[in-house]
Amino acid sequence: MLINKKLISYAKGVKPYIALAVATKVVVLVTNIFFAFSIGGALQSYFEGGWQAVNVELLLGATGFTIVMRAVMNPLTLIFSHRCSSIVRSRLREAVYEKMVKLETQYHRTTGTSHVVSAVVDGVESLESYFGSYIPQFYYAIMVPFILFVSLVKLDWRPAGILLIISPLILLCMMLIMDMAGKMNRKHFGHYQSLGSFFLESLQGLPTLKLFGQEEERFDEIKERTESFRKTTMKILGMQLNSIILIDFITYGGAAAGIVVTALSLGKGYLSFGESFTFLLLASEFFLPLRTLVSFFHIAMGGVSASEKIFHLLETSEERVHRKEKPYKGKGNNTSILLKNVSFSYYRGSPILQDINMEIKQGETVALVGKSGCGKSTLANMLVGFMDPIQGNISYGEQDSVDISLESLRRKVCLVPQNTYIFTGTIEENLRMANPYAKDEDMIRVCKKVGLMDLMKGSGRGLALQVGEAGSQLSGGQRQKLGIARALLRNSDVFIFDEATSNVDKESEEEIWQAIWKETQSKTTIIISHRLSTIIHANRIYVVDKGCIVEWGNHNHLMANGGLYYQLALEQGELRRKEEVS
Ligand SMILES: Nc1ncnc2c1ncn2[C@@H]1O[C@H](COP(=O)(O)OP(=O)(O)OP(=O)(O)O)[C@@H](O)[C@H]1O
Ligand SMILES: [Mg+2]
Repeated sequence: MLINKKLISYAKGVKPYIALAVATKVVVLVTNIFFAFSIGGALQSYFEGGWQAVNVELLLGATGFTIVMRAVMNPLTLIFSHRCSSIVRSRLREAVYEKMVKLETQYHRTTGTSHVVSAVVDGVESLESYFGSYIPQFYYAIMVPFILFVSLVKLDWRPAGILLIISPLILLCMMLIMDMAGKMNRKHFGHYQSLGSFFLESLQGLPTLKLFGQEEERFDEIKERTESFRKTTMKILGMQLNSIILIDFITYGGAAAGIVVTALSLGKGYLSFGESFTFLLLASEFFLPLRTLVSFFHIAMGGVSASEKIFHLLETSEERVHRKEKPYKGKGNNTSILLKNVSFSYYRGSPILQDINMEIKQGETVALVGKSGCGKSTLANMLVGFMDPIQGNISYGEQDSVDISLESLRRKVCLVPQNTYIFTGTIEENLRMANPYAKDEDMIRVCKKVGLMDLMKGSGRGLALQVGEAGSQLSGGQRQKLGIARALLRNSDVFIFDEATSNVDKESEEEIWQAIWKETQSKTTIIISHRLSTIIHANRIYVVDKGCIVEWGNHNHLMANGGLYYQLALEQGELRRKEEVS
């Protein structure tokens, strides 16, 4: 109960360091006992024969030895404690990251980003006290009363026994406090997380809040939530203070009881004066480690509550079975894609895609068009393995998607998503993600193709141009251009462009598409676009409506068909005419 088993299971490589931290503490304790005995012995000699009887060398030697041992052992304890906590921190962070990678898109539904950040950053950080301070102190504090008892029992079993009996009372109290503290800490950490995510969202959405004049209201809500957080913090501090007062009462009460029994033993002649003095010096040592344990316990509890959130994330069962690579059974490097009766729904709700049948032959360019929300991006995400169909199957080359590992699928298929993510860093760093071994000339070439050179030259920094946090120093169109350049550098067999140029002006868009057509001539390409002008030359166009393919064919065929595609084309023609008139 006083030790969290789950957390300890993460302490595999940590145990030797815990043992070393405990050992250094025990060495200091044994030195203290030796010192107390030396002082007691010296005092006794003084009372019996004056200064001449005192072995001054021994006394000075014992004092020096104690000082040196403390000076050496205390820093060692700190080093070992720090090692414990750093191992657990990195292990937990790695485990969480691995889990997030496995959960992929499911993670967005199960856990909010800021919740994960607060658990992984602050939560894991506060586990430092659990492993670095609490656990070594726990084992040490349990051992101390026994070590002291064994050392003192030879002098007189009565006070030694009293001190030994009282010390477990502190552990009992701790167990009582624990239940209450656990509930409070859990609530407190929950508050902390929701305050964190609310604050983060307020910062990220500040321009929108200002646009709608909502910043004052938001500020009031932040104040309210902060106040409620402050109240729970104060409650926890109050509880900690009260429990420490109670523990102090037992600690000093216990030491006083020990001293009283020592005095009685002295009175009755069971103990000499020097021995009584040794008892006095060591009486509080029985309890102080336990008292320190209680204060570490309160700090460590914050980490334990955070760890519950981390374990909740780690224990989230993955909805998807991770696919294992099976040997390729097809002929040559076949990059065709076949979808047979593919259906999909999010959260097992109403179907988003129904009975999709598509065939994209090697080297073909096909397009997906349809109204907003009809399921185009869902299909694109499924093709790169972010989700699996709930019915039907997809094959790449002559290989079923279940036989292709996600790693090799993503080497084969490259998606430029609707909201491509640009990382903090330089243009070069963002490009290298796609191909770490790319030469400068290759990077410059793709940047030229997408029309990023003006920006790069204008800044005078070229590939070393910093793009800011999440590409915030680039325009929406420039971010998209960088996303496309990154994909082109990947040089995969299959490309999927999902509204890849929706933020780019018309002239640049045409240039980019010409470059894309040229670069992907021999590749299998899927283009999703609202602007029909970008897909007119596709070998085949699939028109999606409410998750179903309602018509397909080339541009001329679909125009002649007079169906949904024709309507969409008509609407866009109308729009273009209006643009031209204005
Ligand atoms: N992560 C998600 N969880 C639940 N539902 C989702 C999720 N993503 C999309 N949807 C729903 O699936 C449907 C299809 O979305 P999708 O993004 O595939 O549409 P789209 O055709 O790409 O639209 P647009 O042209 O606006 O990009 C929408 O109704 C949307 O609400
Ligand atoms: Mg979309």
